[in-house]
Amino acid sequence: MNIADSDVVASILQREGYRIARQADEADLILLNTCAIRDNAEQRIHHRLRDLQALRRRRPGLRIGVLGCMAERLQSKLMEDEECVSFVAGPDTYRDLPALLRQGAKFAATDLSDTETYADIEPVRLSSNGITAFVSIMRGCQNYCAYCVVPYTRGRERSRDPETIVDEVARLAQAGYREVTLLGQNVNSYRHGHTTFPTLLERVAQVSPLLRVRLATSHPKDLGDELLHAMAAHPNICKCIHLPVQSGSDRVLKAMNRRYTRDWYMGRIDAIRRILPTCSLTTDVIAGFCGEPEEDHRLTLFLFREVRYAYAYMFKFSMRPGTYAHAHLADDVPDEVKTRRLEEIIALQGEIALHNNQAELGRTHEVLVEGASHRRQDQLFGRTSQNKVVVFDRDTHQPGDYLQVKITGCTAATLLGQAAQEAPIPQQPQTSPQP
Ligand code: 5AD
Ligand code: SF4
Repeated sequence: MNIADSDVVASILQREGYRIARQADEADLILLNTCAIRDNAEQRIHHRLRDLQALRRRRPGLRIGVLGCMAERLQSKLMEDEECVSFVAGPDTYRDLPALLRQGAKFAATDLSDTETYADIEPVRLSSNGITAFVSIMRGCQNYCAYCVVPYTRGRERSRDPETIVDEVARLAQAGYREVTLLGQNVNSYRHGHTTFPTLLERVAQVSPLLRVRLATSHPKDLGDELLHAMAAHPNICKCIHLPVQSGSDRVLKAMNRRYTRDWYMGRIDAIRRILPTCSLTTDVIAGFCGEPEEDHRLTLFLFREVRYAYAYMFKFSMRPGTYAHAHLADDVPDEVKTRRLEEIIALQGEIALHNNQAELGRTHEVLVEGASHRRQDQLFGRTSQNKVVVFDRDTHQPGDYLQVKITGCTAATLLGQAAQEAPIPQQPQTSPQP
């Protein structure tokens, strides 16, 4: 989400003549795009700002701005606490940045909008590999999970005009991109006029058979069979679903205001297995939410054993000011207990991931090559439709190629493979993208 937002800000400022500096000490303006979801994300920004304070002393004309959720949450208080900050700008104020910057004074722009989607702004893809891109399809969230600050920092849910999404995707395909990830806090509740998410997804998938389509994130309460059937109908829609569970206990799910039960969640998993038998699953989970007893933590471990996720983002609960939990619940699981529970989940998930990967040995997957392996220059890496990273010998292959790769080894995180020597296999005849 933040990468996509940074790309929008870069685009807005480039139109005004700003240029990207190669490094911080050459810049006249430094922007930090921030997350407020957990306290440790905010602490990292405070540390970074203290480092930048030294640079600011050396270069008095330098302006430092804080963007995103932390700016929205702390507003002008951030400028009082951090001397080097010249301005803060929340997620819905980026269009105003050029005008506000021109005025030269300190400012705190933090209005939220019910309509802003930056639909007409073609993001500058700052950290792009030229192969994979994020496309934001909606903003905000109004699910009000009890622990979560996002509804307060990113405002109400709104969906972007589908025509602008399809146009952006078609331009990406024409520019040689091979994969787009459609982004929203809860893509299942995308709605613009009569267009729902399954319809949008199918339209995007039809842009080009050579363009893979991924999606993130699905809320389990809204994941319907229609979406699963749409995914099944298109080979270029990747078979991977991120379905944050947060907890395996009904009592904790209720306290979290997740609005589904463990049974409902497992029913959705069964539907995925039935309609998309090759689909992989990933999740988010929180250890040590308010009042979580030991037996409820065990229910989470039990659920992990049942679902066997390919990957999980695992967090310790972090109490956030302004949330329902902060006002009404006690952060009563001691930190060392949270840490131990988190470590248990991480250890279990490590075993499951290794086991899942070992089951892949000998199988062949279609892999989209993304670039050089981080460890060895003579190797490339790519991903399967299931979003598994595969590393293999570079040979004459290029980023952007689709290859058939036979899996020959693995760790818990990565598959190792051998690419077939024959030419890459487009799944369907190549057609030019529909504008
Ligand atoms: N503490 C810990 N984890 C949190 N998340 C959201 N809010 C909190 C919090 N207060 C996690 C959830 C969510 C992911 C993006 O971050 O698991 O799905
Ligand atoms: Fe936060 Fe819940 Fe919205 Fe996700 S669905 S962003 S966890 S409030």
